[in-house]
Amino acid sequence: MATPTTTPATMRAVQYDACGGGAAGLKHVEVPVPSAKKNEVLLKLQAATINPVDWKIQKGDLRPLLPRRLPFIPVTDVAGVVVDVGPGVKGLTAGDQVVAMLNSFNGGGLAEYAVASANLTVKRPAEVSAAEGAGLPIAAGTALQALRSIGAKFDGTGKPLNVLVTAASGGVGLYAVQLAKLANLHVTATCGARNMDLVKSLGADEVMDYRTPEGASLQSPSGRKYDGVVHCTVGVSWSSFQPLLSDAGRVIDITPNFSAILTSALHRMTFSKKRLVPLLLSPNKADLELLVGLLKEGKLKTVVDSKFPLSEADKAWQSSIDGHATGKIVVEMES
Ligand SMILES: NC(=O)c1ccc[n+]([C@@H]2O[C@H](COP(=O)([O-])OP(=O)(O)OC[C@H]3O[C@@H](n4cnc5c(N)ncnc54)[C@H](OP(=O)(O)O)[C@@H]3O)[C@@H](O)[C@H]2O)c1
Repeated sequence: MATPTTTPATMRAVQYDACGGGAAGLKHVEVPVPSAKKNEVLLKLQAATINPVDWKIQKGDLRPLLPRRLPFIPVTDVAGVVVDVGPGVKGLTAGDQVVAMLNSFNGGGLAEYAVASANLTVKRPAEVSAAEGAGLPIAAGTALQALRSIGAKFDGTGKPLNVLVTAASGGVGLYAVQLAKLANLHVTATCGARNMDLVKSLGADEVMDYRTPEGASLQSPSGRKYDGVVHCTVGVSWSSFQPLLSDAGRVIDITPNFSAILTSALHRMTFSKKRLVPLLLSPNKADLELLVGLLKEGKLKTVVDSKFPLSEADKAWQSSIDGHATGKIVVEMES
């Protein structure tokens, strides 16, 4: 039977009506397919991945970052096929396979169709599956920008720095380990015992189980001081990091609390050489193209923790809330 080429009027989607409901607050609905406006493309989605930020927004943890309106279809990181282009879009046409990051305030990823800004939509070569591509925007983008903040270079011109990646088995951490090795860094990583072999196989030079006293101390087994830390978990104070850092070492904190933000401000004001640096992803097309290219060349892998059909998106959501994913949790639209 031929595949229909016209876009239907309505689509399946998963949304929440109010903040705070967790996985039980997600509802399966039939809603109108959105349309692409100026500089936007309409995508028929194949896969989306869940990031902790998605359920933290639902929980209200990230105020003032809240959905622009309720009900809200969450999730930003998607892969699919362009089915329509709005006015002003250049370089993308119907039929292109793509990876995109949707606008965080508008969401839209847990649905059969979504509208993406052409500025954050990049072509996906045949070598990159939808699930692999959808893993990239937030998780790999953050890993890349965190490593750059430490001084990593991806063109072979960087210094051989020592880095620590905490929660190296998570969505961000697994990309951070691989990207750090591509930048020729020495990588020490922490994760749970069950993931140590995986993290080593992706290039980490030293891996520690975070539930052991040695792992909890975060000290490099080889005695190295860290030039940078890609800090992907919580609950480690600046005073614990400080003695582990080289003279100008930096901790890039991707989940900074209020105290971390104050510490960072103090470091800036006092021109401290050792620094805590809070990082919020600054999404951009160039980084997404770089990352898709690395996947295509086989230099970077998306580790998929689990896949769920759209009809079970609430299970995927709960799994992310549980916090024990190894890599990315994928929701597939066509299964
Ligand atoms: N600033 C930004 O722009 C930005 C961007 C992306 C993410 N984030 C934040 O960064 C954090 C990590 O995101 P993610 O997507 O990587 O999360 P994730 O995929 O949910 O991380 C889960 C992994 O973390 C491991 N883990 C948990 N606690 C650990 C610890 N104390 N030491 C070592 N490993 C630990 C877990 O291992 P076990 O199962 O063995 O416990 C699991 O494999 C989240 O808080 C997220 O909101 C911020």
